[in-house]
Amino acid sequence: MLSSVSANRTSDLVGDVDPALIERVTALLEQIEERLAAAAVADTAFVTEAAQHIISAGGKRFRPLLVVLAAMLGQADDDEIIRAALVMELTHVASLYHDDVMDEAEVRRGAPSANSRWNNLVAILVGDFLFSRASTIVATLGTDYVALQARTFARLVQGQIAETEGPGPEDDKLEHYLRVLADKTGSLIAASTVFGGMVAGLDDQARAALAAYGEEIGVVFQLSDDIIDIASDSSGKTPGTDLRAGVPTLPTLLVRASTDPADARLRELLDADLSSDEALAEALGLLRAHPAMEEARAVVQQRAEIARAHLAPLPDGPAKDALATLCDAVVTRSV
Ligand code: IPE
Ligand code: IPE
Ligand code: MG
Ligand code: MG
Repeated sequence: MLSSVSANRTSDLVGDVDPALIERVTALLEQIEERLAAAAVADTAFVTEAAQHIISAGGKRFRPLLVVLAAMLGQADDDEIIRAALVMELTHVASLYHDDVMDEAEVRRGAPSANSRWNNLVAILVGDFLFSRASTIVATLGTDYVALQARTFARLVQGQIAETEGPGPEDDKLEHYLRVLADKTGSLIAASTVFGGMVAGLDDQARAALAAYGEEIGVVFQLSDDIIDIASDSSGKTPGTDLRAGVPTLPTLLVRASTDPADARLRELLDADLSSDEALAEALGLLRAHPAMEEARAVVQQRAEIARAHLAPLPDGPAKDALATLCDAVVTRSV
């Protein structure tokens, strides 16, 4: 299981900042955990089981962590922080149910995906159900929150569609890829930091800084995720899923752009049918050993520094330090 809310895990991610902050953040994350399960309770045992399935399978709870940390930059009511975090995680989980249908994924958070445990129809409708639970909660926070969540979900969905459509003939492939990442992932992570800033009553300038930080760290997070798809056998997802599906990632885009004859076999494989385990293993092996992996990691590192720089206008203190340390955790993460 990938998730466990504990002070140790919180400090792994955000460093040895103020122990009081770690304690408060951990206590809030524990309450969020309980309320997530409760938010997925439905009218029938079957829908409850299907809706709790991916929630109880774990997950990093990265978006709730960002809501909570950003909220610590000001004065915020605990229950408002918790509700804001629930909205972000429920929206995220709903998008995972749908994403696994789109990607025909079999595993999610180390458990069978809902589409493989049941079927596509169940996965799609349960995703909708969880999204409606997010809507119920966001309505209790106020219209500004409703508007931001709606704008965010529209961006996320359009990012998912753009990824499916792929770049047009006039589009630069790398630019298209980075736009997809910002829309499908950066948008919700930016909304998470901004929600935290809103519950904490921060001013417009601080919220803009949080939005810029969240968007950038969100892109870094997805760039890392795409590298993990290639490099890790222990992510709780099937390695090489993007590769097999032909979904572009930064390392594969870099290999495609290369004209080095030594890369000919790998370039050929990137365009080949990778449905057999042998073909996928060959492509993964060549890609893992390719310098494009290090180049991609260097881009991740640079962009994490950009994210960190966006924190400058925010009030100094342990919460800001924690958000800065999180930039390192996102670069070095392996799950
Ligand atoms: C998965 O998100 C989808 C991406 C945007 C990369 P996470 O990596 O946050 O997944 P969980 O919540 O930890 O399972
Ligand atoms: C997920 O993108 C993005 C959203 C769910 C919006 P991916 O398809 O790259 O994420 P994983 O690898 O399945 O988690
Ligand atoms: Mg996917
Ligand atoms: Mg996908």
